[in-house]
Amino acid sequence: MSTTREMLSRTLQLRNGLSIPQIQLGLYMMSPAETKRAVRSALIAGYRGFDSAQWYGNEKETGQAINAFLADPALNKEGLTRQDIFYTTKLRSNSTSREQVRKSIQKSVKECGLGYVDLFLLHSPYGGKEARRESWAAVLEAVEAGEVKSAGVSNYGVGHLGEFEEGKRPVVNQIEVHPFNTQGEIREKCKEMGVLVEAYAPLVRGVRFSDKTVKGLAGRYGVSSAQVLVRWSIQHGFVTLPKSAKEERLISNADVGGFELSKEDMEGLDALDEKLVTDWNPTDAP
Ligand SMILES: NC(=O)c1ccc[n+]([C@@H]2O[C@H](COP(=O)([O-])OP(=O)(O)OC[C@H]3O[C@@H](n4cnc5c(N)ncnc54)[C@H](OP(=O)(O)O)[C@@H]3O)[C@@H](O)[C@H]2O)c1
Repeated sequence: MSTTREMLSRTLQLRNGLSIPQIQLGLYMMSPAETKRAVRSALIAGYRGFDSAQWYGNEKETGQAINAFLADPALNKEGLTRQDIFYTTKLRSNSTSREQVRKSIQKSVKECGLGYVDLFLLHSPYGGKEARRESWAAVLEAVEAGEVKSAGVSNYGVGHLGEFEEGKRPVVNQIEVHPFNTQGEIREKCKEMGVLVEAYAPLVRGVRFSDKTVKGLAGRYGVSSAQVLVRWSIQHGFVTLPKSAKEERLISNADVGGFELSKEDMEGLDALDEKLVTDWNPTDAP
């Protein structure tokens, strides 16, 4: 039995030894104004991790909301500092120009106003092998320079993961994973390489809340469909990124410490795989 705050303070370890909050707030499709409100509510509720991207257009507001919270003793009752927060952002487009990517990373660091980025991801493998290689080299340079703490990728398929040199592997691969797209092969490859999986669209973007199995389990455990899906994600050991712009939902999505899905129920959910793509699927890009 864990409280919501305890669930939100759970961390996993990255291959570079740093830790990462297991449940983080996803910030895709949030307007700048919604982002400010949601990040503030989330911090008050106990969230410590936030998943933004250059693409989302809310890097600035995410950072502003974090800084405002940290600076306000009436809200920041535990006296948290920047080091207690985990901020992720992502490169919009890979480029064959290492310098251009480096500048783009520096712009992201400036935009958020947090001094550094905890995790910087290549948002996708698009752009071809050379652009992937040069963009990755730029992210590693940013780590060396202290602008970024950890370097990762997103939407990388098995082939893309195979392109990394042994000592230069990403700490995470952020991919779409939920019971309707279980991504067995990519997960297996990540495991073999020591790359942590971050699950995006863990709530299947809301399109499977009424699925018979999910709804049945929700009824049986006395929780919501969203909570069943978040629980599935954390029991598989992923970092999970449920998004909600609504205070009540973002709190309840993390309130998953009061039940545990049985082995049989986890398997029942795994069996729902239909390779469902809810947004885009760059994992087999050339
Ligand atoms: N790397 C990538 O390419 C990539 C792609 C997609 C997503 N992501 C990341 O992963 C995060 C999560 O993915 P996602 O935002 O696509 O989808 P998601 O988290 O699976 O689902 C979000 C949707 O579910 C709704 N929702 C949330 N909680 C709910 C609840 N308790 N009851 C009913 N509806 C609920 C949200 O609406 P409300 O906001 O109105 O509550 C929103 O429409 C993103 O925000 C982003 O950070 C990354």
